[in-house]
Amino acid sequence: MLVLGIESSCDECAAALVAGGSRLMAQKVSSQIPIHSPYGGVVPELASRDHVRKIVPVIEQTFAEAGVELRQCDGIAVTAGPGLIGSLLVGVMAAKALAWSLEKPLVGVNHLQAHLRAIFLENDYSYPHLGLVVSGGHTSLFHVEGPDRLRQLGRTLDDAAGEAFDKVAKLLGLSYPGGVSIERAAQKGDPQAFYFPRPMPGKRLDFSFSGLKTAAAVRIKKQGIPTGDALGDFAASFQEAVVDTLVKKTISAAKKEKLKRILVSGGVAANRRLREKLEAGVREEGFEVRFPSISLCTDNAAMVAALGGCLLGSGNDDGIMLDADAGLSWDAA
Ligand code: KG4
Ligand code: ZN
Repeated sequence: MLVLGIESSCDECAAALVAGGSRLMAQKVSSQIPIHSPYGGVVPELASRDHVRKIVPVIEQTFAEAGVELRQCDGIAVTAGPGLIGSLLVGVMAAKALAWSLEKPLVGVNHLQAHLRAIFLENDYSYPHLGLVVSGGHTSLFHVEGPDRLRQLGRTLDDAAGEAFDKVAKLLGLSYPGGVSIERAAQKGDPQAFYFPRPMPGKRLDFSFSGLKTAAAVRIKKQGIPTGDALGDFAASFQEAVVDTLVKKTISAAKKEKLKRILVSGGVAANRRLREKLEAGVREEGFEVRFPSISLCTDNAAMVAALGGCLLGSGNDDGIMLDADAGLSWDAA
């Protein structure tokens, strides 16, 4: 089954063709980083306007790259939520128009479930396992029972980890996306140089990153923006606090749920320090952790097509009546 995936939930406009649920034939991602950079974060109105401009060319280029005709795809999957409503609507409307005109089945998929399916494009894994989705919009732990069967164990009560990276990077005068520039600045820094709290160290599996962000903001306000070596130290210390929190909660969740395999996804899963520390922590427990390649961690349409392939393959489509509506918030579990 050849599935077209469409992703436009935030600031990436993407299309991909995936055969058999896991063979990526072509993918095109149009990034909006230059558009949002001056603001240090995604501006929803600008995001949806750019999706309107890009969605058709991105889909056309994906088919051209794969060397297949539109009518050769067997079904369409589109991110229907959660996300920015204006952005979601562009992808959902494009998907509906294509499904209707081509008379192909359509399925609206959950963005978090799609993130957790990304790694299946590179390897096959059995269920159940523990899933950590850590991005600009989400920081959630799931007991993953199947491609669309998730039990939420914990989530952020305020900012997502990626959002904290983005906001602190902005305060430091670093470029967007903040996680990438903080990681770069942290490379030569000392992670112990500055003290930052490890938020919510208790037994709960929820996260909270806004206190940590405020601690960074207060320090910058009092002492000014660090420069030279101090900037590297500040970035490394902040990154370490985010990473320690993610590692601790993830390992606690795996132990609590007695799940030995952890799959991680979302933009922050691209962070090398997180990968190192989670791998080390998990090894001590005799568990295993797997991350998708960096290009599959951040928002993409291959993961949407991969999940769509599973769902459509099991007859789980929304039919040609197209009731895949865009939803601002949509619980994954
Ligand atoms: O999954 P994603 O592309 O979009 C959402 O669904 O949010 O994630 C984007 C987020 C941004 O907050 C960005 O700063 C963060 O992922 N990010 C990183 C890294 N690369 C992207 N955070 C830490 N380290 C990175 N290398
Ligand atoms: Zn995402």
